[in-house]
Amino acid sequence: MYMYKDLGFRPIEREDLDALKELHNDQSTFLNLATIHMVDDDDQEAWWEIQKSKKGDERYSLIRQNTDKEELIGRLRIVNIDNANRNCEVGLDILPHLRGQGLGKKSYYMVLEYLFMHQNMNMVYLKAADYNPEAIGLYEKVGFRHTGYLKDFLYRHGKYWNYLIMCITKDEYLS
Ligand SMILES: CC(C)(COP(=O)(O)OP(=O)(O)OC[C@H]1O[C@@H](n2cnc3c(N)ncnc32)[C@H](O)[C@@H]1OP(=O)(O)O)[C@@H](O)C(=O)NCCC(=O)NCCS
Repeated sequence: MYMYKDLGFRPIEREDLDALKELHNDQSTFLNLATIHMVDDDDQEAWWEIQKSKKGDERYSLIRQNTDKEELIGRLRIVNIDNANRNCEVGLDILPHLRGQGLGKKSYYMVLEYLFMHQNMNMVYLKAADYNPEAIGLYEKVGFRHTGYLKDFLYRHGKYWNYLIMCITKDEYLS
């Protein structure tokens, strides 16, 4: 487990799958992702098996370490890992009942420390729908900058929306 204060992330274990399925199937989660689809137990199990052998695409469980036990708080993806150019894409989702308590922000500080200080990444990017102010506000706060967008990329709530692209370089992170 990679630890940052009381938070950490580790490979997804079988006992996490139910909670991660519920997180994914909550509309407050899947409507904010690039593709809308819900999963059943079989889909979730198959996805977990495939993830283990995928290259350049890593999925983790986000954990809060309480005094004597660990609590699953969300999921983390580090994907499109490009080891030649030292960049990757990140994203994370927090369980609905734990949102708004600073866990997303602390998780991003953890992930950026891991990627820049240990994995020697040079640039980290993410994408956010422009109808998701909670996520955009969080990304700006932890240091991501708006660098572009995919116009009319997502159809939600009866219209097309831009998919914002946000980046942070190692130099920006260190300053
Ligand atoms: C986006 C998400 C990861 C944020 O995690 P979180 O734990 O709720 O966020 P935090 O409590 O750490 O909030 C961090 C910042 O986000 C912003 N924020 C949080 N809730 C907000 C709200 N309701 N409105 C506007 N900004 C908000 C604030 O800038 C906040 O900073 P502050 O605490 O200094 O005010 C989480 O809400 C989530 O999983 N959402 C559903 C799925 C999703 O949208 N995933 C991202 C796809 S790009």
